[in-house]
Amino acid sequence: MPSPTLDPILEGRRSQPHQLIEVLQDVQSLYGYIPEEAMRCVSTELGVPLMEVYRVASFYKAFSLKPRGKNVITMCQGTACHVRGAKLLLNQATGQLGVEPGEMTPDGLFTVQRVNCLGACALGPVVTENGSYYHHMTPGRLRGLIESLRHEGVEETAHA
Ligand code: FES
Repeated sequence: MPSPTLDPILEGRRSQPHQLIEVLQDVQSLYGYIPEEAMRCVSTELGVPLMEVYRVASFYKAFSLKPRGKNVITMCQGTACHVRGAKLLLNQATGQLGVEPGEMTPDGLFTVQRVNCLGACALGPVVTENGSYYHHMTPGRLRGLIESLRHEGVEETAHA
């Protein structure tokens, strides 16, 4: 159950259904995902049917209905990347981290997600990490990236 109140997000937006996407963006920023309880609250407060809130929250890749790791690794599995080995990259990431696409690692450091195109097809296979693009990615470079991010995450935790 989310603990922070949604009042600051809803301030001035109640009963304004057209504010749905902006409100969901703020909920996503607050929690790192969109909890079910928050969807119910947004539905009631904006006057938008819960099914519509769910439809919008599940449609856009920017929103997540599950908690996501500190590092979100997005793996393009579109055709242009697929023919250049995107599946090998996905296997590398999921195998190295021990998660399925969409899941968060138990330490909260990583989520691997798959998408159908990242808009840089000529540079494939393409992977992003928290919005940074890595093109012509190889399994070896990806392994190094994940190791480096894991090392940074462990260091930050140790010094927190
Ligand atoms: S298919 Fe991978 S970036 Fe377009």
